[in-house]
Amino acid sequence: MYFMRVLHISAECYPAAKSGGLGDVAGALPKYLTSAGWESAVVIPKYGLPWTTKHRFKLLHVGAYFLNDQYHPYTIEEPLQTDLDFSLYMVNLPGLFDRPGIYGDAEKGWYTDNTERFISFQIAILDWVKNMDLKPEILHCHDYHAGLVPFLIKFSKIFEVLKKIPTVFTIHNAEYAGSFPWLKKDLLPEFPVEVNGLLDWSDQINPLASAVKNAWAITTVSPGYLLELQQFSSGLEWLFSNEKRKCRGILNGIDHDVWDPKTDTYLNAHLPDKVAYELKDIEDFKLNQKKQLVSQLGLNQNIPWITFIGRLVREKGADILPDLINTVLESGTGIGFIILGSGEHYLHDLLRSMSYKYSGKLHVRIGYDEALAHQLYAASDFILMPSWVEPCGLNQLYALRYGTIPIVRAIGGLKDSIVPWKEKNGNGILFEAFSVVDAKNAIDEAFELFNDRKKFEEVRKFIFGIDFSWQKSASEYVKLYDELN
Ligand code: GLC
Repeated sequence: MYFMRVLHISAECYPAAKSGGLGDVAGALPKYLTSAGWESAVVIPKYGLPWTTKHRFKLLHVGAYFLNDQYHPYTIEEPLQTDLDFSLYMVNLPGLFDRPGIYGDAEKGWYTDNTERFISFQIAILDWVKNMDLKPEILHCHDYHAGLVPFLIKFSKIFEVLKKIPTVFTIHNAEYAGSFPWLKKDLLPEFPVEVNGLLDWSDQINPLASAVKNAWAITTVSPGYLLELQQFSSGLEWLFSNEKRKCRGILNGIDHDVWDPKTDTYLNAHLPDKVAYELKDIEDFKLNQKKQLVSQLGLNQNIPWITFIGRLVREKGADILPDLINTVLESGTGIGFIILGSGEHYLHDLLRSMSYKYSGKLHVRIGYDEALAHQLYAASDFILMPSWVEPCGLNQLYALRYGTIPIVRAIGGLKDSIVPWKEKNGNGILFEAFSVVDAKNAIDEAFELFNDRKKFEEVRKFIFGIDFSWQKSASEYVKLYDELN
């Protein structure tokens, strides 16, 4: 017998499967909801990722759903001996997810059958839930991979028993909608033709738009992003304005157990365990981290280091990095840059080539390295987020937790969490336009701040005390669940 009040349906969940912030949220929010009384479980696909291959699994349910004259077998399995604080389940769909990547892999690239994969994932989950004696009180779907669930339980006959379960849909990233042509309609179980319009957007089946139309409630991962979607969302603006009454923005939090400068196992030295910190505790911690990092990477200890961590794609503003770094470094300012991430191949080549040109001032690591990321948050002076869009952004919150000052573009969740350091409760540096000029001005401001040691240390001390943990945000989800129930 399962006991869960909320089932989170997601493509990612840290630490089992993470490609970005969605994984972090799905791996943290459930724990905080559970301690707030809303017992939460998460279900993701069973991928062929290292985490999966390292764990043993308990078989919980064997099922098959019937579609297009065919039975599609699946199993629900639970990983054993994890130290997770919530229940994690995985749907095993042979042939679809037992691969080394989440959405694609280095060898095959982006998987061309992602539509089929994530539709099967959703149908299998609903078939499983249908068979539960005690059903969840809420189905909480994350991003387009789970976006068809609200429509399916409303309109497909085979899931009629689930019709009354309220659905919440959280948008972590509306850049991906998962659209596919109507020709593939038979991948879905039957539904009345009159409701085609509740699946459709621009003559395609659009899982994201369908979720916005059919879920009982919609949340975005920051209030600012919700407003932006009404003005700019690749053709969905009208939809977001039309459905705004059931939408709300809830800023993400971070997991203070995973991100803790007092205990972080990726760090070699820690902040002492104290109730109140002196300036000196903080300075010692930061200096220690910086010393280790600069010796590990062969960098100069006396200049400020600005770090970019994340996907090297336009969305994150990575395409202005080469020009920006060139402009800053050519201007002779004594600043260094560290880049950790992967994405567009032309950026890998360009940035790597620049790192030879600016050796000692630009360090580039292409790839994903959780340990190095933690060390960079702890050791850097500033973190740079020149995002084109940023639904919430977690990196600025990790940075604050480790005393690293964010330099961010004033957009989405960045604007909602970062306040100019010169203002009351200031914690960072903001710039408006998506341009090298504006970003460069912000970096100049950072350089000045760095050189005003007294001010710099004060800001640093202040940001160490800010609380962006999940507690507050989880309580807003609890409020929403209570309203729907
Ligand atoms: C996506 C968004 C990011 C957000 C994260 C978690 O990755 O791009 O802004 O923080 O989801 O919600």
